[in-house]
Amino acid sequence: MIPQSFISDLLNRVDIVDVVGRYVQLKKGGANYMGLCPFHSEKSPSFTVSPTKQFYHCFGCGAHGTSIGFLIEYSGMGFVDAVKDLAQGVGMVVPEQDDRIPPAQRAQMQAQSLALSDAMTQAAEYYKMQLRQAPAAIGYLKGRGLTGEIAARFSLGYAPDGWDNLRSVFRDYDAPVLAEAGLVIDKVDEEGRRLKRYDRFRERVMFPIRNTKGQVIAFGGRIMEQGEPKYLNSPETPLFSKGHELYGLFEARQAIRDAGYVLVTEGYMDVVALAQMGFPQAVATLGTACTTTHVQKLLRQTDNVIFSFDGDKAGRRAARRALEACLSHVSDNKTIKFLFLPAEHDPDSYIREFGAPAFEQQVAEAMPLSQFLLKEVAADFDLSEPEGRARVQFEAKPMLQAMAPSALRLQIVRGLATMTQSSPGEIEALCELSKPVAEVRRAPPRSARPEPMGLELQIVRHLVAHPALALEIDESGLAAFDSFGPEQSERLRQLVSAARALGPQGNFASLAMHLKEQGNEYDAIITEISSESAESDFEADRQYVASAIRQIKLDALKAELDQLFTSGKTAAEIGDRYREISAMQDQLRKEAEVGLPGR
Ligand code: CTP
Ligand code: MN
Repeated sequence: MIPQSFISDLLNRVDIVDVVGRYVQLKKGGANYMGLCPFHSEKSPSFTVSPTKQFYHCFGCGAHGTSIGFLIEYSGMGFVDAVKDLAQGVGMVVPEQDDRIPPAQRAQMQAQSLALSDAMTQAAEYYKMQLRQAPAAIGYLKGRGLTGEIAARFSLGYAPDGWDNLRSVFRDYDAPVLAEAGLVIDKVDEEGRRLKRYDRFRERVMFPIRNTKGQVIAFGGRIMEQGEPKYLNSPETPLFSKGHELYGLFEARQAIRDAGYVLVTEGYMDVVALAQMGFPQAVATLGTACTTTHVQKLLRQTDNVIFSFDGDKAGRRAARRALEACLSHVSDNKTIKFLFLPAEHDPDSYIREFGAPAFEQQVAEAMPLSQFLLKEVAADFDLSEPEGRARVQFEAKPMLQAMAPSALRLQIVRGLATMTQSSPGEIEALCELSKPVAEVRRAPPRSARPEPMGLELQIVRHLVAHPALALEIDESGLAAFDSFGPEQSERLRQLVSAARALGPQGNFASLAMHLKEQGNEYDAIITEISSESAESDFEADRQYVASAIRQIKLDALKAELDQLFTSGKTAAEIGDRYREISAMQDQLRKEAEVGLPGR
């Protein structure tokens, strides 16, 4: 967990105009900047960036958020990566909770990661240059149907024959960073002393693997003749973790957006060949099973993911793993499908043998996740026997449990119920599903909190726009919220404490982000504030909140006064309370005149 205070500081330091401006061409228009929205296609700009609010907002598609949100949406980085990326740009170091790394060491780590990244870039340049002078490698790629254009698009390269070619690339071939980057291998003796160093990649066609920022973080190298291993990959390094990265994602980003879906394959050549044949929206897992991190990364780019697998046993196994990795991410606005090619075919060989239209057809006919799941759980059992049906239910249980409650889960439950001669309610009970939904609802639907209205709505809006105002509300102010009703009061108290947690530097952008993480209750208000053309004045808003709270207190006192004489109290008690109420009213009115905050 990165502390909220750090996020606030960070959002105060970075400038969203710079951040967005790196990717979107912005023009100044009044107080804001305008550009073409990168999140939907448009011809005239409806995408605005507000330097005062540090928020972007698109009037066309409604996309909005902070610098952090922008990076996440645009580049597909995770939250932590986005924060790190921004922090690096303004010279801040992200504190990590679990390890208290001293600043000096942290700086050293940052220097190391820069050095690694540098080394990878240099190596990639070198391999790319070498490809031009390697007729055999060019011939190999041509033989696999690739044009120079596609080779350039993926920055393909060639590592020539020879044990230490990289000696000519790096000033110091003995530098530890080359081994840490996985570019060279150190041969060591039993005591761990280095005997000899040599290049990891020799005589291989090189596929650079990039992160979502486009930096080269690893390589895959393919042998051109027969031989083992067919592909040699960079080892895991501080820059590269197989379970997190997808080959081709950086290159495919725009195409994924244009196509409306991403195609996930198993190999480097599949990605490159598909791009060659008109399917640039393809990526590949790197010779590993698909992980939940992969799925998460993919779903950040698009709502539609299509996995492609060979039709053979291994393909089926891989598909099963991918299915399991997807379950926790299933939701009703996402579609995940599985495409099974005929046995002995991968996307590369299929599209070459049968052509792009045939492949397109395969994509169109891909099997939805629900169907694949039901097929999988039923595959090995005999549904005509009670034992078989019970086993199917048993198989399905962990998968259903991994899914969040959703309409799609209910559909699968229904399918499973039919298949196993049960009722949906029985399946949900058997599988001990969280929040079962199949049951006929007798109770009225869970009531959401009532929408804020009137004075309450105004206070909410002002607090969201200027979280620092929450620091000025004292106990008596919080108590006054009770007159809106218990749920409303609870909401305001939660909002105040979330806003207070941001401290005096708290701003709209960081509170909005926090609220969005909690759910969609404040979405309408956030949208409204982020789309207002002018920024509201802090001082005026502060006066407003103070006077609104005074008004609530006055209303409450008046209501109490109206009932005081019929409250059944003794005359003495009534007299005492009457004087108290009058004094409080006087005090509040006096504050209103001088415009002091309502304390
Ligand atoms: N792979 C690997 N190491 C190997 C073999 C495979 O890392 N020794 C990974 C690579 O990412 C490869 C993917 O698994 O792209 C799929 O392997 P495979 O199906 O064997 O290769 P293809 O992609 O079909 O390669 P090609 O078409 O070049 O033969
Ligand atoms: Mn292949």
